[in-house]
Amino acid sequence: MAWTKERLEEVVQTRLANHRLVVVANREPYIHVRRGEEILCVRPASGVTTALDPVVRACGGVWVAHGSGDADRAVSDEQGRFRVPPDNPCYTLRRVWLSREEEEGYYYGFANSAVWPLCHAAYTRPRFESEHWEAYRRVNRKFTEAVLEEIEGESAIVFVQDYHFALLPRMLRQARPDLIVVQFWHIPWPNPEVFRVCPWKEEILDGLLGNNLLAFHTQYHCNNFMETVDRNLEARVCFERFAVTRRGQSTSIKPQPISVDPDEIANLAPPDLDRASKRFRAQMRVGNLPLLVGVDRVDYIKGIPERLRAVDRFLCRYPDWRRKFCFVQVGAPSRVHIGDYRALNEEVEKLVEEINWRHGDSTWDPIVFLHEHHGPDKLYLLYRMASACVVSSLHDGMNLVAKEFVAARADEQGVLILSEFTGAARELPDAVIVNPYALDDLADSYHKALTMPASEQRRRMKRMRRQVSDNNIYRWAGMLLSAAGQYVEPEETLVLRRGLRSPHKNGTPLLKLSVS
Ligand code: G6P
Repeated sequence: MAWTKERLEEVVQTRLANHRLVVVANREPYIHVRRGEEILCVRPASGVTTALDPVVRACGGVWVAHGSGDADRAVSDEQGRFRVPPDNPCYTLRRVWLSREEEEGYYYGFANSAVWPLCHAAYTRPRFESEHWEAYRRVNRKFTEAVLEEIEGESAIVFVQDYHFALLPRMLRQARPDLIVVQFWHIPWPNPEVFRVCPWKEEILDGLLGNNLLAFHTQYHCNNFMETVDRNLEARVCFERFAVTRRGQSTSIKPQPISVDPDEIANLAPPDLDRASKRFRAQMRVGNLPLLVGVDRVDYIKGIPERLRAVDRFLCRYPDWRRKFCFVQVGAPSRVHIGDYRALNEEVEKLVEEINWRHGDSTWDPIVFLHEHHGPDKLYLLYRMASACVVSSLHDGMNLVAKEFVAARADEQGVLILSEFTGAARELPDAVIVNPYALDDLADSYHKALTMPASEQRRRMKRMRRQVSDNNIYRWAGMLLSAAGQYVEPEETLVLRRGLRSPHKNGTPLLKLSVS
């Protein structure tokens, strides 16, 4: 049976009955920003929030996130709550306010200058600062408190996202041992050799083992995590059941690849696709040329310089393509307070300029670099215009651009060029799989894509579309939340536990019996 919004809703209602659903993710799904006198509500450039939003919409509940927009406070209530989506509210966004120092240490510091490069094999060195670590710990505590406030002593499933919150599961468990805590780690988990350089490795692992269930995109990342625990922590690691027991509590480790909502992407099609595409082409000044397209945050894991250098190599190897195609790269600026990211932005700008100078002329530039965030409508158009979408990540947990591209191609045309170092490559073998470090091969893949017969494109795209449609975001959430459902205790035990643990709101315990 196919996974749909409705089926997910049903799972949540039946299996997680009487439990509140609280999602914790650093990035908020809707950000309020000031533009002059106006306040705008924008969607961030994050595959993770785009993927999760339809899930929380289907299940209701609360999303706890960092309130990062400069107008977030102006529109939220005193507790930082705001109902979203603004045009059809169906869940609560609870914003957590962070000071500059907290954001600096927790987000730019520990999360993105230490954990991010540590987990991605992209040869950017992690930086470990004790001040950052302290801020990370403080902010994990702050989020824990916000979650506990939202739950208000009720039963709940807390669905934690990503590497910003390695300590939160243990903190929650200490405060409320009865909570069901599930975490999805959206980025790769490195092997024990790599992880062991982290000065706070034990605390991080212990924090994560506060979860009932900890999930990764691939089996390989699960294996890495198990081995890392085995080498670094006192715990019982069971490779047969894929579970770790520590402090008398067990954590299951499970692979569950994330995906997109293909129907929502299909709905982005404008009523007159041809006209909208023509208008966009005119804006970009690319005429009717075939387009190779890349869509990314400007991040050093994405292999953007590699794919641009491959344009240079392509034009040297296949000079007949001069003036006959364009490479359109959307680069949403990201984490630019971090030196490595600033340097990358400069490197990319410089490369575009150099390659265009070398191969272009007054009528044609081989590369069009759109160095800003684009909303879903514009991205949909680009996906539909593309002869090929290029995903050349040096390392990527999943990469949802690959799946968005496939979901957009209702015409069953277009080629996906996909790095073998993404989680998506395991699920989409019908893409043209490349090693982004091998520039000649990457350049050849452009040629292959631009000359691939329509019938072969269709054959590959059909299979990829079936894969994305069967393994959609509702399946991802449904599988994880069903697994979480296994920890739901029968109602009597719950009532008893609550009665024993804490007084009822008016001071009277709910039950005083002892039930076995
Ligand atoms: C990755 C992470 C997400 C993050 C996204 C965007 O996909 O796994 O947690 O939200 O990048 O990055 P940002 O730092 O802007 O939230």
